Amino acid sequence: MKAIVYMEYGEPGVLHQEEVEKPYPGGDEVLIRVHAVSVNYGDIIARNFKNISPGEFNMPGIFRILARLAFGLSRPRKKILGNTFAGEVEMAGNEVKQFKAGEQVFGYTGEQMGTYAEYICLKENGILALKPSNLTYEEASAVPYGSLMALGLFRKVKIQKGQSVLIIGAAGGIGSAAVQLARYYFGAEVTAVCSTQATDAVRRLGADKVIDYKKEDFTKNGESYDLIFDILGKGSFSQYRRSLKQNGIYLPVSFKTAKLFQMLWTSLMSKKKVVCALAVPKPADLIFIKEFIEEQNLKPVIDRCFPLEKTSDAHRYIETEGRKGSVVITMRNDVVQT
Ligand SMILES: NC(=O)c1ccc[n+]([C@@H]2O[C@H](COP(=O)([O-])OP(=O)(O)OC[C@H]3O[C@@H](n4cnc5c(N)ncnc54)[C@H](OP(=O)(O)O)[C@@H]3O)[C@@H](O)[C@H]2O)c1
Repeated sequence: MKAIVYMEYGEPGVLHQEEVEKPYPGGDEVLIRVHAVSVNYGDIIARNFKNISPGEFNMPGIFRILARLAFGLSRPRKKILGNTFAGEVEMAGNEVKQFKAGEQVFGYTGEQMGTYAEYICLKENGILALKPSNLTYEEASAVPYGSLMALGLFRKVKIQKGQSVLIIGAAGGIGSAAVQLARYYFGAEVTAVCSTQATDAVRRLGADKVIDYKKEDFTKNGESYDLIFDILGKGSFSQYRRSLKQNGIYLPVSFKTAKLFQMLWTSLMSKKKVVCALAVPKPADLIFIKEFIEEQNLKPVIDRCFPLEKTSDAHRYIETEGRKGSVVITMRNDVVQT
């Protein structure tokens, strides 16, 4: 089968297409013919891991060390990147009960990666569910990572209907799912912060208000929010404090150790809190997301689709142009390249 492989860390050009052995499912696994994969933040970081400095890595130093060990110190150990996908079950192992050949599925492989390939094997109790029937494979591949992370994190802070939520980084993988979940599932009033090029895409996701961070500083507009959901964690509690309502929460999705101390301190001393948390994706969450997307007829916004052999261009595009929605690799020749 064809797969996009990398043998050394570096620029997008390290990704190249190779023929590799097609996997065969174990008894409790399904073999999935991958139709589409979305390119996520983790792919970009893992591709160039050796050259990502501790300062550029947005989580506590210990996470960086553990991830470097898992991904390989000097050379990549996981040769095939990609962690979300949508495709079709081609074969089910003899112990598999929940899935059968021919079913359309989508899912998330997490740190196991491996989805930049024509086929993957996944355990039936992995993060795998039937694909939302209202989405194409390309759209469905853009859903699992961001929505599993956003849902997991929102559940830590119990948003009430009608509350105001500010999402910083709203055009990215987690942010775009966060906009839809906050607005349509939790019934919040959503203000999205993104760059100029992404404002239309973020409006289409359902944001009530959109702030272009290149033109406006939301900390100076006099508005305040019940929750500030800061994807890259570039801001700080002291900077955002005045933009939080009484009892408001600042949730940096990416956080360094200092923010953990702020979480402890604010939990004891302040009505306004910092909450740092890790999302742990569960299969039941993906089933919930599938049903929710169908009920609400929600769709992710796709920025561009690239064919498998142009995966390095997809990485380059994200790194140089930024995102106006999801960037997807498609195995289907009939999908128009935009
Ligand atoms: N806590 C957890 O459990 C958890 C789980 C998974 C991931 N994470 C963390 O989440 C982060 C990745 O999130 P992601 O996958 O959504 O990343 P992403 O897809 O790269 O999106 C990040 C977005 O932030 C925007 N951005 C950059 N600078 C900004 C600024 N100053 N103001 C507003 N927006 C800005 C970018 O848009 P422009 O380029 O157009 O500015 C981009 O759309 C990583 O740091 C990762 O460690 C945390």
